[in-house]
Amino acid sequence: MRRPIIAGNWKMYKTARETVEFFEQFKPLVKISHHCDIVIAAPFTVLVDAVKAAEGSNIAIAAQDLFWEAEGAYTGEISPLMLVDVGCRYTLVGHSERRQLFGETNQNVNKKIKAALSVNLTPIVCIGEMLEEREANQTQKVIQTQFLEGFAGLTAQAFSRIILAYEPVWAIGTGRTATPEIAGEVHEYIRGLADASFGQPGARNLRILYGGSVKPDNIKGLMAQAHVDGALVGGASLNADSFGSIVNF
Ligand code: PGA
Repeated sequence: MRRPIIAGNWKMYKTARETVEFFEQFKPLVKISHHCDIVIAAPFTVLVDAVKAAEGSNIAIAAQDLFWEAEGAYTGEISPLMLVDVGCRYTLVGHSERRQLFGETNQNVNKKIKAALSVNLTPIVCIGEMLEEREANQTQKVIQTQFLEGFAGLTAQAFSRIILAYEPVWAIGTGRTATPEIAGEVHEYIRGLADASFGQPGARNLRILYGGSVKPDNIKGLMAQAHVDGALVGGASLNADSFGSIVNF
């Protein structure tokens, strides 16, 4: 059995004060939620506040990105060790907004995954097709390329420490969720790719989250799919009540 994960991605939202307020409201709502792992990916500037606010709870904190070098003259970047140092346990890698707006490539994603694993940070690696690609029947091809290039050179052991998130770009922030069937189909395809590259038991144990307009009223249908092992939630993770209902699907 794969343990579900519900992860929130706050993107570029929340000050330190808003972070503390969120945790005050959110912690009681998930205090007895032991059926899944709960993760919140907060902006760099509030990671310390988030880790402190989550202390002693069942909520782990993630970064939204990282750089692959350990240290050096890289103005504006954050190293894997710096994230560990402030208490992060996870990091997003290759979110579609990084890919689309900030030129993130599969090759960079690959380096970031290896850098995260080297300090025991769990990467949540995001892949997904754009609307034009889906309409041109390129979904599987795009996913396959992101998978093969993103995970190039990893051992099966390293791969077993990764979490994947399938996020169709056309569903992110648009209110247009993939149907459970579409999500289920792509997740099954991804598990097949994992099997072809890394074999069993890695493929069977791989946790694949769905992301893209996940809300309290559609989480149940998505989680009912055999290959959907959790969710990566953007907009609906900003509010304690709505994220609480998603966690407690
Ligand atoms: P959304 O974002 O839930 O607001 O669509 C998901 C994501 O970008 O991870």
